[in-house]
Amino acid sequence: MEKFLPTYSSEELALRNGQDMPYIWVGYKGKIYDVTSSELFKDGYHYFHATGIDLTNDMPDAPHLEDVMNDFEIVGLLEN
Ligand code: HEM
Repeated sequence: MEKFLPTYSSEELALRNGQDMPYIWVGYKGKIYDVTSSELFKDGYHYFHATGIDLTNDMPDAPHLEDVMNDFEIVGLLEN
């Protein structure tokens, strides 16, 4: 059975930017990933990209593929 995932609005996601709350989340292709544990997202920044936002459109600029997301927990779905 698939895990139930709560839906969050972009305002709720924005609070998980490593500044306002002690969580670092990013939106990617409709899902929200918890990257709090990553040293590469310290303080809520990843190579000049802010967190607490949808980064789907930024992935093509990255030197890596989207498979980097696979190591991180999906904590919710991003409301359109
Ligand atoms: C200009 C844009 C970006 C740069 C220069 C960049 C750079 C990097 C580098 C150097 C690494 C570590 C080596 C590797 O896995 O290849 C990394 C890991 C990672 N990146 Fe990016 N990245 C960018 C954009 C993004 C975006 C848009 C996302 C999310 C949507 C993202 C998510 C990740 C994740 C989840 C990891 C793995 C972190 C870990 O294992 O702790 N990156 N990135």
